[in-house]
Amino acid sequence: MKVLVVGGGGREHAIVEALGRAPSVTEVLCTPGNPGMARQARLIRGDQSPASVTALALAEQADLVIVGPEAPLAAGVIDALQGAGIPAFGPTQAAARIEGDKVWSKAFMLRHGVPTAGHRSFAELDTALAYAGSQPLPLVVKDAGLRAGKGVTIAHTHAEAHAALHAIFEVPQAQAVIEEFMVGQEVTVLAFCDGERAVMMPPAQDHKTIFAGDVGPMTGGMGVICPFPVSDADLRRVQTGILDVTLRGMRQEGYPYVGVLYAGLMLTAGGPKVVEFNARFGDPEAEAVLPLLDSDLAEIALACVRSDLSADQVRFRDEASAVIVLAAPGYPAQPQTGIPLHLPTPGAGEQIFQAGTALHAGQLVSSGGRVLAVQACAPTLNAALGRAYRLADAALFAGAQLRRDIGARIGAVPDPAPDPVS
Ligand code: GLY
Repeated sequence: MKVLVVGGGGREHAIVEALGRAPSVTEVLCTPGNPGMARQARLIRGDQSPASVTALALAEQADLVIVGPEAPLAAGVIDALQGAGIPAFGPTQAAARIEGDKVWSKAFMLRHGVPTAGHRSFAELDTALAYAGSQPLPLVVKDAGLRAGKGVTIAHTHAEAHAALHAIFEVPQAQAVIEEFMVGQEVTVLAFCDGERAVMMPPAQDHKTIFAGDVGPMTGGMGVICPFPVSDADLRRVQTGILDVTLRGMRQEGYPYVGVLYAGLMLTAGGPKVVEFNARFGDPEAEAVLPLLDSDLAEIALACVRSDLSADQVRFRDEASAVIVLAAPGYPAQPQTGIPLHLPTPGAGEQIFQAGTALHAGQLVSSGGRVLAVQACAPTLNAALGRAYRLADAALFAGAQLRRDIGARIGAVPDPAPDPVS
């Protein structure tokens, strides 16, 4: 099978790597891709508009297209590919609204009884400011549109809530969602979906603020542990009370959901509740979860597109995985680019997924906010963290930012390096 991947970040690098291990795959293409994938995929320059991606898939006679990022999904790339008769893994534009329009998404959850935080939506700044000022703290303020994971503020003062609302409403036609703050462990459950069935991947935990201790501005994600321990009872609630209900609701409303559904959840005292849905693999969750996949990603994606996914097709290795993100100085506000990168050679069970990188005159340099996602697998989480941190230290670049507390929320501690064999 010839598979075209759309996107150019760490998530797409992990998708390309998983396809490289898939027995059914004969060739992987990626547009635009990044230098880290060049050995595993043929990279093709181009934009990610529905028309360009469809023209490329037709010209290359791709058997399957897998779309990584949210923006092309929201722009209707799957609809365009379907229109041209090309099997395409991802939600249609209408179904991708579950991520792209948080006002619609919250209303959908209420209509179908999906457990989520209490909220109100606003299309006007003044009413939003008045409501925020009357609510107990902390308070969650969300931009209703796509903001690359950075449109959320946890406001600990009313002044912070007001500042976040002013920033959101600087954009014409903006809408805001104000939610109650939920207490508990946050966990990401990704699921392969074929319109009717949702098959869960192992739960993962991202770390979204830039600084250790969960402080500082929100980022796209700074590190992941997987699997995150979730009780069997809670996993059953996620399957039946969240994923199955959501897929049924999407079908009933006329937008069957095909692709990866990202359920960002809070494990509250009252059970798991949805923080947000996304319409794609998480980034950097994909970089932690996909290395554990033991079955053929292309076959799974094709089964989703054909609406005949079975749980037996989706197998993960019984190991732990950890990802440490190395971000550029200045990220998330103003990442510095052009910093030379010198990467070590990863060992077995380790990967350096490239995200914001580029080649300038033969030198690999930083070109974005999150630059590298350094990943390791091991039999235990502490061992995976130890390996991932050692590899991250070897890959450090000038001014790199990384969090040293990935996994600390559940008491995980990176194992020290084994004694050298004498
Ligand atoms: N890691 C958060 C996201 O992918 O949205």
